Amino acid sequence: MNRLVVVSNRVPLPEKGAQAGGLATALQPLLEREGGVWFGWSGTTAAKAAEQPARISHAGRVTYATIDLTKAEHDGYYANFANGVLWPLLHSLPEMMRFDRGDAETYFATNARFADRLLPLLQDEDLVWVHDYHFLPLPGLLRERGVANPIGFFLHIPFPSPEILALAPPAGKLIAALLQADVIGFQTSADLGNFAAAATTLADARQIAAELLEIDGRRVRLGVFPAEIDAPDFAAAALRAARSPTVERLRRSLGGQSLILGVDRLDPTKGLVQRLAGYRRFLETEAAWHRRVVFLQIAPVSRQDVASYQALRAELSQSAGEINSECGDPDWTPLRLITKGGPRTTLAGYMRAARVGLVTPLRDGMNLVAKEYVAAQDPEDPGVLILSRFAGAARQLDAALLVNPNDPDAIAEAITRALVMSHRERQTRWRAMWQAIAENSPLDWGFAFLRTLRQSGAGKPASHAAPVIAPRAKLPVPIHTPSNAIN
Ligand code: ADP
Ligand code: F6P
Repeated sequence: MNRLVVVSNRVPLPEKGAQAGGLATALQPLLEREGGVWFGWSGTTAAKAAEQPARISHAGRVTYATIDLTKAEHDGYYANFANGVLWPLLHSLPEMMRFDRGDAETYFATNARFADRLLPLLQDEDLVWVHDYHFLPLPGLLRERGVANPIGFFLHIPFPSPEILALAPPAGKLIAALLQADVIGFQTSADLGNFAAAATTLADARQIAAELLEIDGRRVRLGVFPAEIDAPDFAAAALRAARSPTVERLRRSLGGQSLILGVDRLDPTKGLVQRLAGYRRFLETEAAWHRRVVFLQIAPVSRQDVASYQALRAELSQSAGEINSECGDPDWTPLRLITKGGPRTTLAGYMRAARVGLVTPLRDGMNLVAKEYVAAQDPEDPGVLILSRFAGAARQLDAALLVNPNDPDAIAEAITRALVMSHRERQTRWRAMWQAIAENSPLDWGFAFLRTLRQSGAGKPASHAAPVIAPRAKLPVPIHTPSNAIN
């Protein structure tokens, strides 16, 4: 059995409680089942952070190893470069980017410190699996330190065209370092195609098959691994939560009005400003629906140390206030904007209570909330999902009402269409979406990636590597069997 070592910036330390974010939702079940090491940032800044070794704690089969960041590392690496440059560029929103060479240097230096602190924790047979845009150069930095273990990398967010990535001056250096991984995974084939183009134009890779690159005599396998949820499990949680006092209180507060629900981290990529504009357009054009609907947007604050996120929070509060004061009535508040998070199980109950799920990111790697909304529905009386065509989830959930999130009229029309949709059409659409997600799970996702990593010929020169295989379809391997073990 190989031990699994996961590296991600955000580590869901048990003592910190549930945190919003797709990365933790995707990875937690795998680590809890297989055990292993979860290494990353503690979520804390400390003056003496640079001198401290990783702090170790254990829960179940998982060993958590985390380091604090100095204030300067936090600002340069996390807030400014990862979230102020890479996050917008990777989401193809270049106008949001704020580049500063000093931040880029801090990003590389902090990655090097993560590599230094990881090194003493690694054993020869470990599979190292690095996650997300915080750690693009980490595979190269580990190789520089002599790490010969198989290294996999998975990007949870989209990958843009090379022209957009090239707007960040160190783009070529980032890609070259990332190409030191053995397997690089993406949410969609479009992301994979964009990365292959970047690897051949911004670095010296050669594409030798649809999912295979060669660089400096080594092969790097690419793959598409759409992140999944455990749909039956989420459905059961939604059913239980629907009977809970919290969800019952929400239902009572609606007094028979139809609930439209959005659940997103408060993030510029989630299209929240545009979504409120769409809802406002709906209210302005559909007076007959006044007092018959309520839109609840749950948007837990995220990354409040990044200036654009603070500005977004203020902008959203202002437009929510305007919608309520200008479109509401003394006895009717059309919009409820809540910036507190809450347990995922309670969200599941809210989703089940919602007639319409409004998931309209400007761009999203996958968007697990969309899958969760589908899973939470009552099969006998399902709600309608309105989904951005620019979310990775739209590829699997094409039976949703797909909209362009930049078009308030399209959002308004989709809301009306969802509210008047016949019971039969709601069921037909829901069944198609349920089928698209029901048989997958986060464990399948993790095992498929790790199987590819094990089979990649990691650590061997190109001539010994596994033969080229056809682009993979979904792997039909049953879960919960010994064949899925990471060995
Ligand atoms: P992202 O990773 O960009 O935040 P996703 O939609 O892919 O977006 O994943 C969000 C995940 O975080 C979902 O699994 C969702 O259930 C979970 N989550 C937990 N609590 C919250 C909350 N209060 N608001 C939003 N998401 C939450
Ligand atoms: O899935 C995207 C993601 O950026 C994860 O990497 C991250 O854990 C989550 O969203 C929440 O963001 P943050 O860790 O910056 O709070």
